[in-house]
Amino acid sequence: MSKLSSRPSNVSRRGFLRFAGAGAAVTGLSATAFSTVAEAAEQTPLAANLPPGNDDAYWRAVERLFTLDKRVLFMNVGTVGSPPREVLDTVDRVHREVAAGAQSAYSDFADVRALAAAGYGCDPDELVVSHNTSDGMSKILAGLNLREGDEILTTNHEHTGGNVPMALARDRHGVVIKRIELPVGNDQHAEDYVAAFERAITSRTKVMLFSAPTYKTGTMLPIQLLAKLAQEHGLTTVVDGAHIPGMMAYNFHELGVDFLAGSAAKWQCGPGGTGMLYIRNKVLSQYNPNPLPEFWPVVSSSYPSEGGVPPRTGGSKESYNIAAYLQSVGNGSLAIMAGVRSACEVWDRIGRKRIQDYVLGHSAYLKELLAERWGVGSLYSPKDDPRLVCALTSFNPFRNPADVLDHAKSDQFVARMKDEYGIVIRNVDFPVIGSAKAHVPVRISTHLFHQREDVERVVDAMWDLAGKMA
Ligand SMILES: Cc1ncc(COP(=O)(O)O)c(C=O)c1O
Repeated sequence: MSKLSSRPSNVSRRGFLRFAGAGAAVTGLSATAFSTVAEAAEQTPLAANLPPGNDDAYWRAVERLFTLDKRVLFMNVGTVGSPPREVLDTVDRVHREVAAGAQSAYSDFADVRALAAAGYGCDPDELVVSHNTSDGMSKILAGLNLREGDEILTTNHEHTGGNVPMALARDRHGVVIKRIELPVGNDQHAEDYVAAFERAITSRTKVMLFSAPTYKTGTMLPIQLLAKLAQEHGLTTVVDGAHIPGMMAYNFHELGVDFLAGSAAKWQCGPGGTGMLYIRNKVLSQYNPNPLPEFWPVVSSSYPSEGGVPPRTGGSKESYNIAAYLQSVGNGSLAIMAGVRSACEVWDRIGRKRIQDYVLGHSAYLKELLAERWGVGSLYSPKDDPRLVCALTSFNPFRNPADVLDHAKSDQFVARMKDEYGIVIRNVDFPVIGSAKAHVPVRISTHLFHQREDVERVVDAMWDLAGKMA
């Protein structure tokens, strides 16, 4: 077991002392260090020092927790996040302590997993800190007992992180991959997804695998509804939830799925090269009464080398700790794991639901502004069905809508947004039903370090640039 303190580093330790003053200011005790809470938050960018409330001042203080380059407005969190200062300090400090003491870490990091699992609504034996989403997806697909002719039912908007392990299962075991075509835009409902998957289920279907949200249109597939459908058909569910940790305040148990792989370095803003892998490891009949699927922890150095493991449980108590087997693989990194813990602590302190509401609020505002200027038809992301929305927004910025088929022009748009307006966004390409060519819209991520005026700024900049490029 690792014993990692999340005590701030030298830099933060000074902040820690200031926090005593800030706390005094909040409680009205002798406030020697600061005269106002705002001043305290300004000078001590630690989550522990955030002012009370949920107003502009609060979210500006949240923004100050981060070290993002102020000359750039970074709106591509869907690709990678940026750790808060205290996470960086923790990683740096622990790295140095490990180096000074030449410490090894043959560990299942039970303490870090316990803290993270509490935030994600699951148990420590069900949560692995993976290397990233792709690593999690690979471990899931390699660990399932899939055979020749078994079908995986998935979508045409999946990421390489899921597509490649599925291709490996196909080429190695003869598994068949079947894809449903996903709709785009605002004119859709959660039930459409259930109907589309249901129509495609056959007697050979073994797994339903889908991204929620897709990285292409930012559509949050309705996980609970799809999990229910899968349960009714006795199927295993695998969710590519790359964007879920840190964005959505989901309780993983309640989702009712078997597996969910996510990133801890995107919206969760943990250290690079970290992810969250959820593996259902007990039967909680209120969420998913089906038996656990056969699953092997294929990358492990702690799975018993003799004697194997007992059968997977059929009840609410695990029969063994599957997450520990997948976590404990040779010598790990105390520093990175301390950073993951620190990132989860920051999120828990702010409140995962509060973060979800805030980032979805920005996205809703963004979509309204886009619909006002460009028309609702420019959106690839849904807007009006609350079950389908998330903090990723994809839309066609071009005055001539047909330009969205021009990959080079879309690339130029993204490059000019950075060069001429100092705003980082990205584009995404994907098939659209009825179109011979892929569409290449742009995608904007709105996160907890953004303010309302950032949303307005990116809209104005895109409108201006679209005019120049018309
Ligand atoms: C839906 C989806 N799946 C998987 C990935 C791969 O993520 P990671 O870098 O965490 O492996 C991404 C990355 O953007 C993604 O958007």
